[in-house]
Amino acid sequence: MKIAILSKGPANYSTKRLVEEAKKRGHKVQVINYAKCYVALESGRPVVNYKGKELTNFDAIIPRIASNLTKYGSSIVRQFEMQNIFTTTSSIAIVRSRDKLRSLQILSKAGVGIPKTVFARETADFEGVLEQVGGAPVIIKVARGTHGNGVVLAETKKAALAVMQAFYVEGVSFLVQEYIGESAGVDIRAFIVNGKVVASMLRQSLDDDFRSNLHQGGNGIPVKLTDEERKIALKAAKAMGLSICGVDMMRSEKGPLVLEVNCSPGFGIEKITGRDVAPSIIDYIEQNAKARRKKDRVGA
Ligand SMILES: Nc1ncnc2c1ncn2[C@@H]1O[C@H](COP(=O)(O)OP(=O)(O)O)[C@@H](O)[C@H]1O
Ligand SMILES: [Mg+2]
Repeated sequence: MKIAILSKGPANYSTKRLVEEAKKRGHKVQVINYAKCYVALESGRPVVNYKGKELTNFDAIIPRIASNLTKYGSSIVRQFEMQNIFTTTSSIAIVRSRDKLRSLQILSKAGVGIPKTVFARETADFEGVLEQVGGAPVIIKVARGTHGNGVVLAETKKAALAVMQAFYVEGVSFLVQEYIGESAGVDIRAFIVNGKVVASMLRQSLDDDFRSNLHQGGNGIPVKLTDEERKIALKAAKAMGLSICGVDMMRSEKGPLVLEVNCSPGFGIEKITGRDVAPSIIDYIEQNAKARRKKDRVGA
C-alpha cells in the first residue's frame, strides 16, 4: 500500500516509528508536511498539491496534525477524504477533539464520566459559576489549550474570580471545573487503536504542580487499567469517533473521570510501557483500507 503520514516533524519519534513499521511490512510511505500542502478547488476534482506536484494514488493517510494547525491541517485531511482515501482519523473528529467544550458535550451525552464543568464567556455571574462546581478550589481552562498550557488551579474563591475576570476581559471562552484533589498531579493515559487499549501509563508531576502533562515535566510509568477504566476509555473513544486516540482520565472518588481525548497522541508511551503502538496502527490500516477498496468495488 501507499501510505502518507501528514506530519510536520519527520524526525519526531511518533513519525519515525510509523515510517519504520510501515516499511517493515513492505508499504511505501511518505511523510508530508501538511502545512506546506495547498489545495486547488476545482469543480468535481479534489486535489492536494505538495512541492509543485499533485499528491495521488495514496491508499491511506495517517494525520498527525499539531494543535496549533488544527484548522488548516483538518482541511487538508478533508481534501483527502473527498478523494475517498482511507484516513486513520477523520477531519471532523480532529476538529471536535481539539475543542474542550465540544468534547465534553459529546462525552457527557454518551454517559462518560467527566468532572463537573461549567462553560462560560460573557457572564458577570462569576459567583454562580463557582457555586455550580462546588466552590473553590477549582480548575479553570481556556477552551483550546493544550499540553497543560492554559490550565489554572484557583485555590481560593478570590483567585478564581480574578482569573475568570481576566479571561472575561480578554474575551476568552473558558471552562470552570471541579478540582479532583484526591488525585492531584496524577492522570492516566489509555492509548487506543481500533477498539483496544494497546498501552496505558500513569503520569505524575515531579514537583508540586497539579498538572501531570509530560510537557510540564511530568513522568510516566506503565499502569494496568481496571476493567471499569478500560470500558470508559473505549466508550470515550467511540463517542468521539476516534479509532486512534489517547484518553486521559483521573482516578477520582467517584470513579474514573475523562479529562480529554487526544486525536494525535504521542508514541512516547511505547518507551514507557514497552508496548508497541505503531504496528497496531499499521495493522488497522491494512485491515480497513483494503476493506474499503473491496466495498467500493462491489458497491460501484
Ligand atoms: N479537574 C481537574 N482536577 C484536577 N486536575 C486537573 C483537572 N483538569 C486537569 N487537571 C490536570 O491538568 C492537566 C492538564 O489538563 P487538560 O484538561 O488535560 O489540558 P491540556 O489539554 O492542556 O492537557 C491534566 O493532565 C491534569 O493533571
Ligand atoms: Mg491533557
